[in-house]
Amino acid sequence: MADGIFLYLSGMFARLFGRRRKEQSPYDHLPVPETASWALLGADMHSHFLPGIDDGAKTTEDSLALLRTMAEMGYKTIITTPHVFIDYYPNTRETITNALTTMQQLVKEHNIDIELRAAAEYYIDDYFMQLIDREPLLTIQKNEVLVEFSMMIEPPNLAEAIFKLKTSGYKPIIAHPERYVFFHRDLGRYQELKDRGCYLQLNMLSIAGYYGQHIKAVAEKLLSMGMYDYCGSDAHHEKHLSVLRAMACSRDYHKITGYPFLNSRL
Ligand SMILES: [Fe+2]
Repeated sequence: MADGIFLYLSGMFARLFGRRRKEQSPYDHLPVPETASWALLGADMHSHFLPGIDDGAKTTEDSLALLRTMAEMGYKTIITTPHVFIDYYPNTRETITNALTTMQQLVKEHNIDIELRAAAEYYIDDYFMQLIDREPLLTIQKNEVLVEFSMMIEPPNLAEAIFKLKTSGYKPIIAHPERYVFFHRDLGRYQELKDRGCYLQLNMLSIAGYYGQHIKAVAEKLLSMGMYDYCGSDAHHEKHLSVLRAMACSRDYHKITGYPFLNSRL
């Protein structure tokens, strides 16, 4: 009798856990792609491919190699986003547009089939607050501005910066929200950002586990909550592209392509 109850309970738990596992992996029935292609996304809107002006591509050769790999992975449009961070990468409209013009010419000369554009990834600090007033910001498209901030300590002026961007006519896109550890204790903070009028941009590498399992878990949770608007590679170098390529041939591929990101509008 006791054995019967045990078997009954075991079966019940197996069914329960079986169902739970299925719910957590809705892409299990889809085949893992054999070729590494992100063509379905079409556009990437966060990367560091302009040479020598931030911590991404170092030389024009680096830059060309990265862009060629992106084209091979099926991307048609790249909106690359050099850091504008006065303490480390004091880029301006001029440094970015000059580097962009050089690379657009080289992309053409080397027959790389990709449309290269540029915006910026602005770091929220006092300099940025003044910059909003001083000159038009570089946008991903229309009025959309990609911003980042400290990953360890929440900037005291975050709400003020978002308000200032909004009242200046911009739509903030918060880069890699899953990487800001101070938001992890309260996922309601992400809804708060959206309520304040921000878009949220997933780093694809977060889903691949590149920044650790905890960041991956938060990114997957935010995906399941439908919190993201854009996805981006945030690629700086070949190692990042290798991870992207491997990811395109894994179950993670479907987590990205199964989500209604706005990238196709770029
Ligand atoms: Fe970035």
